[in-house]
Amino acid sequence: MDLNFQKNFSLRPYNTFGINVQSKQFIGAKTTEELQYIIRQKKDEKILIIGGGSNLLLTKDFEGLTLRIESRGIEIIREDEESVTVKVAAGENWHEFVLWCLENNLGGVENLALIPGSVGAAPIQNIGAYGAELKYVFSSCEAISVSNGEMKTFSKADCQFRYRSSIFKNELKGRYIITSVNLLLNKAPHSINDSYKGLIEKMEGKNKTIQNIANAVIAIRSEKLPNPEKIGNSGSFFKNPVIPVSQFKSLQKQYTNMPYYPDSNGKIKVPAAWMIDVLGLKGFRNGDAGVHENQPLVLVNYGNASGKAIKALAEKIQSKVAEKFGINLTTEVNII
Ligand code: EPU
Repeated sequence: MDLNFQKNFSLRPYNTFGINVQSKQFIGAKTTEELQYIIRQKKDEKILIIGGGSNLLLTKDFEGLTLRIESRGIEIIREDEESVTVKVAAGENWHEFVLWCLENNLGGVENLALIPGSVGAAPIQNIGAYGAELKYVFSSCEAISVSNGEMKTFSKADCQFRYRSSIFKNELKGRYIITSVNLLLNKAPHSINDSYKGLIEKMEGKNKTIQNIANAVIAIRSEKLPNPEKIGNSGSFFKNPVIPVSQFKSLQKQYTNMPYYPDSNGKIKVPAAWMIDVLGLKGFRNGDAGVHENQPLVLVNYGNASGKAIKALAEKIQSKVAEKFGINLTTEVNII
């Protein structure tokens, strides 16, 4: 197989934080066969798998092989009167796939418009926004074992989806490479999910169509979230903490206006953005590492911040939140 392994390769264009670190080797894989070949050939090397590079903070040079998933293809593999199952290659861009669904009048992913990253990365953290999560439409995925290159199919139950998490972020972390994802999408008439607070407001006076939902989500995201092509970022840096009701009640006595959402497992989710805002850190900047001025859950690289500087800022936020609220913020972003 004719593959071009590049040496001492800058990863700057391949991570949305725009961090300039080098990888000892780099290769892009376009097919499953290429992936299997690379894995078997490089089985003794450290491998960093990247898709869109949008959920990643690189803090130092990588002394191994960075493998970028570059497969393409969207295919309808099953269809009946109400729904279709589409098989999407892992290397497809998530938002472009959402646009394809809109063009083909297929519902289910419109609330997830404009989420950066690749389709293959979507199940890893069960991407979610504006009242929807990937798991609502996920059917199954195929993945390659990093240890022996064999293919395995994961059902929805196998993936153990949780809030911004799955088996691929836990027990199987780093052990499989997702190569394609099967999603179950609805034909018209669509069921519309416009229950998220900001979305209801944006949908006022509009017809309940999947295109209008996507337009509303795109408008909200563009108002609030920095465009990674202009200001480096990885979306929400932290997860929203989920705490026991008792802990929430005692916090609420002190912070009567603390926003909260009941979680499906009887606990309470509190917005990390609110806590960071209360701490006065919204818009805080230390050199080129900063807290975004509209959405404090997003850390940003204004130009030449190092991964270490962003990490230090994250740790400062974590310790201030712990000190004031007694809550440990965990990161959503993968720190390498
Ligand atoms: N808030 C503030 N100050 C701010 C911004 C927000 O106090 O400056 C408080 C408000 O109370 C607001 C609440 O935080 O109601 C929630 O804010 P928002 O609706 O922006 O959502 P979020 O909880 O901060 C989550 C996801 C986002 C997703 C939005 C919309 C996580 C970690 N983040 O953010 O996902 O777009 O909801 O569904 O769950 C991502 O994962 O990268 C991401 C951007």
